[in-house]
Amino acid sequence: MADKRVAILFSGRGSNMIALLRAMESPDFGGKPVLLLSDRPQAEGLEITKDLGLTPHILDSTRYRYRSYFDRRLNSILMRHNIDIICLAGFMRILGAKFTNDWDGRILNIHPSFLPNHRGLNTHKRAILAGDSYAGATVHLVNKDLDSGKILDQVRVYIQSNDTADSLSKRVLHEEHRLYPLVLHDFLKGKFGG
Ligand code: GRF
Repeated sequence: MADKRVAILFSGRGSNMIALLRAMESPDFGGKPVLLLSDRPQAEGLEITKDLGLTPHILDSTRYRYRSYFDRRLNSILMRHNIDIICLAGFMRILGAKFTNDWDGRILNIHPSFLPNHRGLNTHKRAILAGDSYAGATVHLVNKDLDSGKILDQVRVYIQSNDTADSLSKRVLHEEHRLYPLVLHDFLKGKFGG
């Protein structure tokens, strides 16, 4: 079967994007990266893609007064590249309901918590403050509600008594880099059904 055409969307550091790019280098992965897109012109990840010889696309969200305008433009770029699957990798912009409906079942996201615990931001700090015994990372499908789509897979990361949000986030990130490529691989191979 032909490789699925994958877009990776990011806003910042881009370490999950790199993990996905590395994984897709292996033959028979089932997908190839055809579009890297950042909504922030100053995203750190942009430099990394340039170092890899890749040309990322920048779609500056501050230039769009309404979410729907941004979403429409994003959609046209994705269509132009014949994208099959979108991977959000630290993409900090919320996508509107029309967009998520149009791409239903074809957008993956990685979230740094053991969902449904701690949707939204500052997950590590909130997990520690809540006295949780574990944090984690989750790869899920994206729907119109924040961090609420079908969970594809997740890992636990146990919280230690001396953990800070920073130390915990480092251990979680390490797991994210393992989890996301594995889930994308399984997704591309149809493991999660239609
Ligand atoms: C990761 O923790 C990811 O789970 C969250 O945003 C962070 C992005 O990090 N959605 P990076 O840009 O992939 O390094």
